[in-house]
Amino acid sequence: MSAPSSETLACAGADKALQPDWPQLNPGEIHVWQTRLDEAAHEQEKAVLSEDELDRAARYRFRQDSLRFVAGRARLRRILGGYLGLSPEDLIFCRGPQGKPWLFLNPGEAPLYFNVTHADAVALYAVTREGEVGIDIERIREIPDWAGIAGSCFAPRERARLRRLPPDRRMRAFFESWTRQEAFLKASGEGLTGKKPGRSSAQHAGYSLHSFTPAPGYLATLASAFVADRVIFQTWSEAGASIALTAVETQDSTL
Ligand SMILES: CC(C)(COP(=O)(O)OP(=O)(O)OC[C@H]1O[C@@H](n2cnc3c(N)ncnc32)[C@H](O)[C@@H]1OP(=O)(O)O)[C@@H](O)C(=O)NCCC(=O)NCCS
Repeated sequence: MSAPSSETLACAGADKALQPDWPQLNPGEIHVWQTRLDEAAHEQEKAVLSEDELDRAARYRFRQDSLRFVAGRARLRRILGGYLGLSPEDLIFCRGPQGKPWLFLNPGEAPLYFNVTHADAVALYAVTREGEVGIDIERIREIPDWAGIAGSCFAPRERARLRRLPPDRRMRAFFESWTRQEAFLKASGEGLTGKKPGRSSAQHAGYSLHSFTPAPGYLATLASAFVADRVIFQTWSEAGASIALTAVETQDSTL
């Protein structure tokens, strides 16, 4: 059975704790989940999606993109449902004015903030009770017009730093600046329409930014509208019906 459409139905009650041993999300924590979207069992994953999500999956031109969307959305539902003690198909997503997804919960229930990013088959999910978060991942690759993009997107100091770097270190630095900008825009919910190119680090004031390497050849940044006490990295890998979770913890001093 597919999940109810987010436009039409209210959220079901917290009647099913599907994962009794689900990690505890404490105040001040951000959990960052990492998964590979090529490992999913497709039909099983499709069963937890809403009609809207299944429609979107059907509109992808390439099968691989559709499969990854289904896997990515199903895992998001399982992760958030795990924290809430809800079945994944019972979650209802809404979108903010610039398209940032948020969870519809029953009145009086504490909000659960999240953000999602994917590059190729790698997906990252940031989840917290504390406040708005944004996350962005990119595969490090050659960008021939890096100077032009930096000219319109990065602050003068970042542009100067990129120019000074030796070519073999430049693309990593470029994607660090890029993901920091994107993660900030995603945390603030501004997205593309609200972007004010060339924001310096000082203009990200009030937001914590943490860049990390989620997988070889990739770079990601987590942005939060608050200073986290701890960030806990969870890896989700699926083999058949079994899900293995691995947690690694960092203190905020490393952010
Ligand atoms: C919407 C946007 C934030 C998505 O980023 P992306 O790198 O294309 O894709 P990601 O994989 O990182 O993130 C996609 C997810 O972000 C979430 N998202 C969508 N709109 C969002 C918004 N306004 N704010 C935060 N999150 C958003 C969704 O969950 C989406 O997942 P879905 O496609 O499965 O629904 C992005 O297109 C955007 O606006 N980028 C700004 C581009 C730019 O010019 N950057 C500034 C440099 S100057």
